[in-house]
Amino acid sequence: MEKEAITIFNVHPLLKRRWSPRAFSDRAIEKEKVQRMFEAARWAPSSMNEQPWRFIMGLKGDSTYEVIFSSLVEFNRLWAGTAPMLTISCGKMIHSGKNEGKPNESFAYDVGQSLAHLTFQAMSDGLFVHQMGGFDKESLQESFKIPDQYSPLTVFAAGYPGDPGVLHPNLRKMEYGDRIRKDFHSFVFMGEFGKSSDFFNEV
Ligand SMILES: Cc1cc2nc3c(=O)[nH]c(=O)nc-3n(C[C@H](O)[C@H](O)[C@H](O)COP(=O)(O)O)c2cc1C
Repeated sequence: MEKEAITIFNVHPLLKRRWSPRAFSDRAIEKEKVQRMFEAARWAPSSMNEQPWRFIMGLKGDSTYEVIFSSLVEFNRLWAGTAPMLTISCGKMIHSGKNEGKPNESFAYDVGQSLAHLTFQAMSDGLFVHQMGGFDKESLQESFKIPDQYSPLTVFAAGYPGDPGVLHPNLRKMEYGDRIRKDFHSFVFMGEFGKSSDFFNEV
């Protein structure tokens, strides 16, 4: 199912096409596409090039996938189980190298950027990514022996788009629902915080 963003200004077609579906096909993701997703994540920028992202990848049929799936909140368990991949994105909260031991204020920001890179590489291969904050962090930390210095930030589902018709009725409604975004005036300012301009007025 396509759910293109209705943009005011023209953007790259991949950005327009990206959305977070809940209906996934059970078709497996080809190995080379999985490799490319993480290659893209690997080349994301990060503060002091610390690359604080760590991923624990589960593929449908393996025990990692099952453990990740069972950590999801009920709402996410309603739909995520058809996706062929469930992966935990973690971040290293503490600096390595010359700042060893100090908190890395950018760790979550950097992990988010790596996810954005991964998402658009996946999209260019016909795949979609849906990130989730609704999961039991402690259970994942315990199950996968994630050290204290690392924080699980999101779980993401990835795969080919599927048939929204198989979703729970409430989810199906959301799947077909409008995509809403804030207006430029509420988040791009000039002169001082909160001050919008006519820069983004439609021509
Ligand atoms: C950090 C993060 C956490 C999210 N958590 C969930 C979640 O637990 N369950 C869910 O169905 N969607 C979740 N989403 C998806 C968002 O709801 C979705 O990205 C947002 O509504 C915008 O829709 P779009 O991605 O289709 O443009 C999450 C997205 C992000 C980035």
